[in-house]
Amino acid sequence: MRVLVTGASGFLGSHICEVLKSKGYEVVGASRRIGYLEELKGISWEKLDITDELSLFSFSFEEYDAVIHNAGLTFTRREEKYFRINHLGTRFLVKRLEEIGFEGPVIYISSLAVHGPGEASEEDLVVSPIVPYGVSKYMGELEVRSSKLNWVVLRPPVIFGERDKALVTVYKIFSSGWVLDWRPQKMLSVVYAGNVAEAVAFLLEVRPYGEVFLIQDATLSWQDFALKIQRMLNVPSRRYLPLRNWHVSLVKSVVSLLGRFLRLPVDKHKLKEIEADAWVVASDKIERYGYKRRFEFDEALSRTLRWCKSKGYL
Ligand SMILES: NC(=O)c1ccc[n+]([C@@H]2O[C@H](COP(=O)([O-])OP(=O)(O)OC[C@H]3O[C@@H](n4cnc5c(N)ncnc54)[C@H](OP(=O)(O)O)[C@@H]3O)[C@@H](O)[C@H]2O)c1
Repeated sequence: MRVLVTGASGFLGSHICEVLKSKGYEVVGASRRIGYLEELKGISWEKLDITDELSLFSFSFEEYDAVIHNAGLTFTRREEKYFRINHLGTRFLVKRLEEIGFEGPVIYISSLAVHGPGEASEEDLVVSPIVPYGVSKYMGELEVRSSKLNWVVLRPPVIFGERDKALVTVYKIFSSGWVLDWRPQKMLSVVYAGNVAEAVAFLLEVRPYGEVFLIQDATLSWQDFALKIQRMLNVPSRRYLPLRNWHVSLVKSVVSLLGRFLRLPVDKHKLKEIEADAWVVASDKIERYGYKRRFEFDEALSRTLRWCKSKGYL
């Protein structure tokens, strides 16, 4: 079976390709940058820009049995880019697949950001995204869900794992022994990229068309996350960083004034997400369909930290 994975050059896409390849699928990765990842030597590549209708028009989607639409933009300071890639790019792709009468499964990688903060317990109920990224992912979702395609939507929360650079700064802060002493009740769900990829393989096999799924490996507070990482790295957790709300307001002001010039990987929208009390997945629908996670949280986290060390990040 020939599977096309969009966004294969990125963090999650590379895991999806690796897992599908290991399960015997013929995998083709599609993105604008192609073929540079050492880990993905065994897969073929096609150049594709999902925002370019001409590029989509000349792409041979007929040659594929399934499409994993994972390409997306997770951070930019130019809001319109979220909508161009996550919404319009998805619309163009869906339109092209409909035009050729594509009948295979189309799995769309959405995000918990679609729900907005709080406890996400029901996949199909009202959503309230609070940042442009979440809105653009929801608009992309709607393109898929209102199409004639045989679709499945997967909404992961924060994803961690090898080849992710976004969380490296967080691991670095924790590895120095600091623990944030700030609203300890704040909870977040996380999921390992390898497990999201396993879930994609599961959905490809089971094909629960027309369904939306959430997924998570663990739900914990930032403090527990820090303590766990410090235990795994054998770092004594002695330094608590007492944060008060006015510190947070100060950081917000600095970020909005200087973030662009200092090229910080956060902006006012990311801070809004970080500030929210909970980003929690409270649904086991995917497990009820028969999905079983392959890597337990501790093992997944220790694999990730080992990778960070091997790359000299920690
Ligand atoms: N990371 C998370 O915590 C997280 C959580 C929930 C959901 N997600 C979703 O998971 C997916 C992958 O995220 P990620 O963290 O792996 O991001 P990433 O590392 O930045 O990868 C994004 C991928 O999308 C591709 N892409 C971007 N614009 C494109 C375009 N115009 N045409 C074709 N490909 C394009 C990029 O390839 P090129 O730049 O080479 O084109 C890259 O391969 C996204 O849809 C994201 O919304 C991520």
